[in-house]
Amino acid sequence: MHSSDSLPIQHNLDLKPYNSFGVSVIAKQFCSVTDADMLPAVFDHARSKNLPVLVLGGGSNMLLVDDFPGLVIHIRLGGVQCNKSSGLVKAGAGEGWHQLVLKCMNNRLHGLENLALIPGSAGAAPIQNIGAYGVELNQFVHSVGVYDNNRGVFNRLNGEECQFAYRDSLFKREDGAGLIITDIILQLHRDWQPNISYQTLKEQLGTDSPDHQQVFEAVCRIRTSKLPDPKKLGNAGSFFKNPVITLVKYQQLQQDLPQLPAFPATSENEVKIPAGHLLDELGWRGRKHGGAAVHNSHALVLVNAGNANGREIYELSCEMRRSVLDRFDIDLQTEVTILP
Ligand code: EPU
Repeated sequence: MHSSDSLPIQHNLDLKPYNSFGVSVIAKQFCSVTDADMLPAVFDHARSKNLPVLVLGGGSNMLLVDDFPGLVIHIRLGGVQCNKSSGLVKAGAGEGWHQLVLKCMNNRLHGLENLALIPGSAGAAPIQNIGAYGVELNQFVHSVGVYDNNRGVFNRLNGEECQFAYRDSLFKREDGAGLIITDIILQLHRDWQPNISYQTLKEQLGTDSPDHQQVFEAVCRIRTSKLPDPKKLGNAGSFFKNPVITLVKYQQLQQDLPQLPAFPATSENEVKIPAGHLLDELGWRGRKHGGAAVHNSHALVLVNAGNANGREIYELSCEMRRSVLDRFDIDLQTEVTILP
């Protein structure tokens, strides 16, 4: 058992290295958690000092707008165990997502190839149910280990209990507010067939029967050609979700935008449309606001083009959102979590 007194608390720490936008904000207190058993004491400490709490993983899907007047809990729980015969893979929440994909492939456990190069930690992956090139994480989630801060207990939730949806899960909602992810267990397979349903991926591959390595390499090529590397140019991937609209609304939009693509949504009466197309139509690509900019190769990605602060990135996103609402009557929802 850990006590509050023995916690490695740092004071007035700049969070610049801890968020992929690379914006500088100061956390009043900061504590790296390297052992799940530290969590009860960390929360006790925050309660006793009356500090609000921010749980941070890889910081790759978060926009920090202002200094944080509370305790940042940085999840650094490591460890990966691959069981080759059952296909079950357990990863500590602080493991890097891409490293996990590589480790699974090296153990000949497949399914995650399409999710290669997604920035962030394994523990953050279920929060927004990461997805790319026709595959979503929820297809592989066996269970998620959590510390339930409301009840002060450790628990394990199965896939259904996580309530996964498009870039959404229980962990993003009020019901899941007190749940801190400590590990994930994925069910992978040795004989998994590659998924090449995504058109761009199919075109990039040039074969209908690729092996896992070819899919992995093609996904890496597409991502690196379109999406900026956060280590070189601060960003958090897609800033907005792709909107889900009714078929009727889609037909109306097509009169204005005949080239607008549509992808299947959960309901038959709805489709998902690329927000990047709407933003391109409004000429957002490459536009700047202070140190913030819209990426030159992808209108859905906001970047820190040089010493941007969180407010500039936030203001730019508000302008983009407003222009889409004015022109297309669609209110884009952010994919990135904005704080405060
Ligand atoms: N498009 C444009 N202009 C742009 C960008 C895109 O017109 O500047 C249109 C094109 O029609 C293109 C279509 O959007 O064919 C789809 O573009 P892309 O394949 O780049 O995918 P996306 O819909 O923009 C989504 C995810 C990405 C994921 C890719 C591939 C969301 C919010 N984003 O982007 O996820 O990598 O599909 O599956 O669902 C992320 O979540 O951070 C992320 C990068």
